[in-house]
Amino acid sequence: MDAPLVLGIETSCDETGIGIVRGRQLLSNTIASSMDEHARYGGVVPEVAARAHLEALQPSIDAALAEAGVTLAELDAVAVTSGPGLAGALMVGVGAAKGLAVALDKPLYAVNHLVGHIAADILDADAGALEYPTVALLVSGGHTSLLLVRDLTSDVELLGETMDDAAGEAFDKVARLLKLPYPGGPEIDRAAADGDPTAIRFPRGLSRASDMASHRYDFSFSGLKTAVARWVEQHEAAGLPVPVADVAASFREAVVDVLVTKALDACARNGVPRLLLGGGVIANRRLRDVALERAAAAGVAVRIPPLRLCTDNGAMIAALAAELIASGRRPSTLAFGADSTLPV
Ligand code: KG4
Ligand code: ZN
Repeated sequence: MDAPLVLGIETSCDETGIGIVRGRQLLSNTIASSMDEHARYGGVVPEVAARAHLEALQPSIDAALAEAGVTLAELDAVAVTSGPGLAGALMVGVGAAKGLAVALDKPLYAVNHLVGHIAADILDADAGALEYPTVALLVSGGHTSLLLVRDLTSDVELLGETMDDAAGEAFDKVARLLKLPYPGGPEIDRAAADGDPTAIRFPRGLSRASDMASHRYDFSFSGLKTAVARWVEQHEAAGLPVPVADVAASFREAVVDVLVTKALDACARNGVPRLLLGGGVIANRRLRDVALERAAAAGVAVRIPPLRLCTDNGAMIAALAAELIASGRRPSTLAFGADSTLPV
């Protein structure tokens, strides 16, 4: 059989992503974001996201088909994120995918969003095949997860995840504290460029060797956020101007340090010389630079898919389904629903 033509639907957070792939070949990847609508709330509002998905789905599907130069009738399968994510947002995509699959009489694949982020890598035509095993670090506004991937289609183990805020969420909250706009990640990144990362020593949650042994590889960023808040409050109470650039640079350094330390520790402990990065926070240049530098020193090869494949998108969902089809996986029945806490 030729490589399957798959349409993927991703609505787990604030991006309505429709992607079309033929096997490992990316044909189109349409992303409509409701980020602007959430800006005045300082974070994603689930109801607003769900309604935006409803409005964006049909035009996005049309645009993705047009860009790929294919018709619905030509599809071999439909794929959709069934979780984890915002329940109401997921439900919109799941409902649409079921409707399409039934109407077109095509097989339907319900896939895991986090595993989808890993699958984004196989669409990077320049990177060569993904080798196993690999450790994957996924960091976005919604998740911070460390995974051990022995096989994308059958063996992905969760090593650790955030116990409170996601890393991107921490960037967004600290940005708000520093009176910077939403989304905070790029703003902190910009402000940090002029700052001294060693100016303030902020805490690195759960990153001592003993923490890594006892908490597996879980992350915690709420203590860091509180430490920044307290530092800023004390400074303001003393009537001193807040050195935004230094706070931003020192905060960013703490987040980057924790993420890279844990990812490389996981590589070392599992004897895995490969690290894959994914998620919207990978846009952070300091994170990429520190990861590349420390990984090189540790003899770990780093893979970073192009950024448009790192943020939430439908192509990674379609790519994962194409891999599942190639591995002989049977389609999902219609019995599945949106599962906001779906495990890998
Ligand atoms: O994967 P993504 O686009 O979608 C969601 O998680 O919804 O990630 C968005 C997150 C936001 O929290 C944003 O502040 C963060 O990624 N982000 C960054 C940077 N660019 C985006 N965080 C740190 N540095 C950046 N340059
Ligand atoms: Zn994501």
